[in-house]
Amino acid sequence: MSLQIPDCNVVLIGFMGSGKSSVGRELARRWRFRFVDTDAAIRRRFSKSIGEIFATYGEDFFREQEHDVLRDLLGQERAVIATGGGIVLQEQNVVLLRRLGRVVWLTASPDTIWERVRMSTHRPLLQNEDPRGTMDHLLQARSPFYAAAADLTVDSSGLLHSEVADRVVASLLDRRSCSRNQS
Ligand code: S3P
Repeated sequence: MSLQIPDCNVVLIGFMGSGKSSVGRELARRWRFRFVDTDAAIRRRFSKSIGEIFATYGEDFFREQEHDVLRDLLGQERAVIATGGGIVLQEQNVVLLRRLGRVVWLTASPDTIWERVRMSTHRPLLQNEDPRGTMDHLLQARSPFYAAAADLTVDSSGLLHSEVADRVVASLLDRRSCSRNQS
């Protein structure tokens, strides 16, 4: 199964802790695709952590950078692109994501996500007095955005990253053609 190589880029979207970076890295390794992580690209631009970028320049600035990074990726081929959890909030980003490749939404149950993010210190949106409440609220508010942007959905709850990667491969095989993205 892992030898099936898609004829388009694959873009991973989803909430914080849904496994986009780990699964994306795994898929890129299998297919020998380039792995791009939009958060990492922004961190590199400023030689700062995402938390520092939020604190220094503000969230709006960070969102502009996300858009910029996506624009810079147009024309990229043979890439797996993992995105930040808020990237779907701007409609102009969704247009770019869909131009870039097949968009896969990685989902997970709220409890699974909480277990994955609760100890993290690098997610500024959850560094407050009620991170679980914030998480639940954001998850609910954002789900329609992910659903609208996605070509397909893969649930990662209770699975190893390699098993999620298997599922992504299987889902992509049902939709081999990427001709939409080559226009
Ligand atoms: C964010 C998610 C983070 C990062 C930033 C904002 C969000 O990425 O982009 O902290 O708005 O959900 P991950 O989804 O990789 O944690």
